[in-house]
Amino acid sequence: MAQGSTAIGIDIGGTGIKGGIVDLETGALLSDRIKLPTPQGGRPNDIATVTTQVLTRLDAEDPDAPIGVCFPAVVKNGKTMSAANISQDWIGFDAEAFFEKELGHGIRFVNDADAAGYAEVKYGAAKGRQGVVILTTLGTGIGTAIIVDGLLVPNTELGHLEIDGYDAESRAAYSAKEREKLDWKQWAKRLNRYYAELDKLFTPDLYIVGGGVSKNFADFAGLLTSPTPFVAAAFRNNSGILGAAALAAGR
Ligand code: BGC
Repeated sequence: MAQGSTAIGIDIGGTGIKGGIVDLETGALLSDRIKLPTPQGGRPNDIATVTTQVLTRLDAEDPDAPIGVCFPAVVKNGKTMSAANISQDWIGFDAEAFFEKELGHGIRFVNDADAAGYAEVKYGAAKGRQGVVILTTLGTGIGTAIIVDGLLVPNTELGHLEIDGYDAESRAAYSAKEREKLDWKQWAKRLNRYYAELDKLFTPDLYIVGGGVSKNFADFAGLLTSPTPFVAAAFRNNSGILGAAALAAGR
């Protein structure tokens, strides 16, 4: 494969740190998807150690391949500005510079939902779509990316809307379904309340459902009541890896 046509994407999540080598033309994964558990406590040093292990396992042929890392926090100019399901140590932390030092390689550091949204615009379910598209990742938390006529509005953090007195993700994320042992119908009720709020605020043209549970989209798609159409993320839970890689390569 020609140099410059691949990049590495790493997606740091609440439960796993995932990585892959990405074909920048098509968004296809060219390697196995490596996944290691996120260390307890989610502190910067521990996360950097596991991220290095993921990179070592990927064993990329091109030592100059760009590396993109996406992360579950607000990321502004390489700094992490929030910490919802990770250690508070990340607040106001110069994460991009820290990882560059730890990994010994330049990187691009971005929010995980933004990376997923970027991949879906570039290669997947939002490609060529006009209007307002909202990608929601339903996982440990709820991540959001708003895409307007193909352009991403970063750091929207709509998983933390306050709905009925609750932080929305604490009720409607996939982790809430697991924690409270909700069946699809019970969980869909929570999702419907959540999407009704997004409908009210944004009147979007399309929702893209990403995150780990997007592979089970068929189990709950028919229970969703919003008038806005829904599709599953084309790359399911790999969108973050692909988007981080594409952003790192400046594609
Ligand atoms: C974080 C977001 C992140 C989302 C999904 C939320 O708790 O605040 O930054 O995108 O989880 O990981």
